Amino acid sequence: TDRYAVIGKPIAHSKSPLIHGLFAQATGQDIEYTAIEGPLDGFADTVRAFIAAGGRGMNVTLPFKLQAFDIATDPMESARLAGAVNALKFEADRIYAQNFDGLGLVNDIQRNLGVLLTGKRVLICGAGGATRGAILPIAQQHPALLAVANRSADKAHELKADFAAHATLQTGGYADLAGESFDVVLNATSTGLSQAELPLPAGVFAPGALAYELVYGKGLTPFLKQARAAGVTQLVDGVGMLVEQAAEAFEWWRGVRPDTQAVIKRLTVPLE
Ligand code: ATR
Repeated sequence: TDRYAVIGKPIAHSKSPLIHGLFAQATGQDIEYTAIEGPLDGFADTVRAFIAAGGRGMNVTLPFKLQAFDIATDPMESARLAGAVNALKFEADRIYAQNFDGLGLVNDIQRNLGVLLTGKRVLICGAGGATRGAILPIAQQHPALLAVANRSADKAHELKADFAAHATLQTGGYADLAGESFDVVLNATSTGLSQAELPLPAGVFAPGALAYELVYGKGLTPFLKQARAAGVTQLVDGVGMLVEQAAEAFEWWRGVRPDTQAVIKRLTVPLE
């Protein structure tokens, strides 16, 4: 039995053990997948102890995504551009690192929701870690426009500079969006976890737009309520992204692609 785990703090509510358990069952892979609550001041030691005990790979969640980057010997492009890691693979003395969050997001939007990003006007709200992970996979689909808006416009402008070699971004504050509309609007701020509303100008949602909250399992967040009030009918949360990033990690580790549909269905919580 090969051993895998998710590490974070807190970790009790992580769905990763359930998701990977279902993947393993469905694909007949003999793995064990557990949850590890990492100590804030001993992340690297915890990972090394897991490797010494036969660990083959790990998922990494908050607050360790940056520390996981630091211990990687071989960060892949997805991790280098995001500056953060959500999956590790251990082989001999190497620690390979990936960030599958953005790819999971794009796969959910295109394959599961049937919205192709090519030629679309796409807006990402927020300029933190979640946005960093999403930019490259979205840009690779060649949207007509990829805009990043943030409360602190400077942080959005920093992203424009950081990604200059890989993506052409329109960046600014929320007020700068006045008069523009988008086919796909993503909330990658942390407001899905609080009750704050984003100051989105009226008209930001184009007719027939998709409103996507990256947070999962919080029901109708302020962002989704705003979108609904603006007439958006396609409102989704991040359950599909969660399962799709897990599928990418599972395939990277095991060489087998698990089916995601049944698992997404099982984890989906109605928005209200
Ligand atoms: P993550 O890694 O989850 O993206 P983060 O790096 O802390 O988290 O980024 C949080 C994002 O949520 C930022 O874009 C932040 O905006 P600022 O950079 O201007 O702080 C955004 N955010 C958090 N609370 C917000 C609020 N009440 N209104 C608007 N944006 C908010």
